[in-house]
Amino acid sequence: MAEIWVNPPEPDAARAEPGQAAGADLHLELSGEGSLRSQLMHALREAIRSGRLAPGTRLPPYRTLAHDLGIARNTAADAYAELVEEGWLSARQGSGTRVARRATPLPPDRSRRPQRPVRRRVQHDLMPSSPDAATFPRAAWLTSARRAVAAAPNDAFGVGDPRGRAELRETLAEYLARARGVRAEPDRIVICSGFAHGLTLLGDVLDGPVAVESYGLEFHRGLLEEAGLRTVPLTVDSRGARIDELPGTGAEAVLLTPAHQFPTGGPLYPERRAAVIDWARSRGGLLVEDDYDGEFRYDRQPVGAVQGLDPDRVVYLGSTSKSLSPALRLGWMVLPGRLVDDIVAAKGPRELWSGVLDQLSLADFIARGAYDRHLRRMRQHYRRRRDLLVGTLAQRAPHIEVSGIAAGLHAVLELPEHTEDATLRAARRQGLALDGLRPYRHPDSTMPPRDGLVIGYGTPPDHAFAAALDALCLALPDPPEHDG
Ligand SMILES: Cc1ncc(COP(=O)(O)O)c(C=O)c1O
Repeated sequence: MAEIWVNPPEPDAARAEPGQAAGADLHLELSGEGSLRSQLMHALREAIRSGRLAPGTRLPPYRTLAHDLGIARNTAADAYAELVEEGWLSARQGSGTRVARRATPLPPDRSRRPQRPVRRRVQHDLMPSSPDAATFPRAAWLTSARRAVAAAPNDAFGVGDPRGRAELRETLAEYLARARGVRAEPDRIVICSGFAHGLTLLGDVLDGPVAVESYGLEFHRGLLEEAGLRTVPLTVDSRGARIDELPGTGAEAVLLTPAHQFPTGGPLYPERRAAVIDWARSRGGLLVEDDYDGEFRYDRQPVGAVQGLDPDRVVYLGSTSKSLSPALRLGWMVLPGRLVDDIVAAKGPRELWSGVLDQLSLADFIARGAYDRHLRRMRQHYRRRRDLLVGTLAQRAPHIEVSGIAAGLHAVLELPEHTEDATLRAARRQGLALDGLRPYRHPDSTMPPRDGLVIGYGTPPDHAFAAALDALCLALPDPPEHDG
């Protein structure tokens, strides 16, 4: 246990009110257990509970405290802010941070219980998981659903074929060729309930380790690992995943997000697209292409699917989760011919996953152009969002770099080193739900960890977007101080 004496700021000492500790030494005992922030919070609570710090006592500014304790300023600032929220301290502009007048001591054992994260109400959702749910094209979908049910043959209401309805597979073959450059015959398409389901099915048929991008969804890595497949990280740089590392991994398959790396945001560059196909051909390997948001590209033409380069070496996976709604649970796999039977066998003898009426509705929705119209509208919608995000940050936080903005529904904000946790706590205090970059990093990656935020700008409804950006700006770290 370290004992530390902190000298509060001198200017106030002479004016200290009776009973205040300002001017007097502040004795804090740090337990040495847990993070510095929780040690500091614990020490301050103990000092208040024991009466050593009386209500109204002015505390040293967090900068002074941090300096005296030899800890980061953010750590001291966060500890103060959390204690203000818990009611132990009060903070007012101009009068600093004081022990709250009504800081009532808690029963002695309470602060010794393991601390649970404080749950706060989410007011602003900037998680990268969802499109703008308010924009689901209800009327157009209803039209398609009505038409699909009316036109469906009787067998559509029987037990479903695990490959999925022929109407949808035929429509998708035409749509994916036209819009994504995918070479697909309906016989090589298997409908699934989204990307995660498709990946789970692949887990049943793939062997050996699977190479993945160093940054990606932990949930997806987990699905492969649950199937007994080890995942091996590839470095991701400004041109996408480092395909030259593939031969050294021993992997037989590689999972990539070529149109828009998730979450860092760049495309896989042309020479690497060619290189991954060369690798697959020479090693008998397979590319698993996650095309989760390929339709949303703002400044140039969409980047086409790698699958078009060699349909026998690529499993292409698409989903309606970003384009329409993650609630639909509809996706598709375009498979090399040799994998079709195995995937259908893994799915089971009958359709257990995707509702046939939804499949028929989607087929109608795509065939009569409603999907294209919806995507065109949404591209403009998200582009406006993205421009507002970038413009707001340029104005209010120009020291924060934004990347991965050419496509998709999320962007990455680069943070100064070691500030991600504190920024996420500050975000929670602003009622913001958002993700840091670190949880996306593969635990075995040799890439140095990056501090950052993954901002899903598609998620909030329109009326709440400006307020969400406001809260975000308040949570971001201050610009670095420059000497002189
Ligand atoms: C990287 C990535 N892949 C795929 C998907 C789609 O997953 P699913 O179709 O299982 O909802 C998402 C989320 O929408 C995603 O973020």
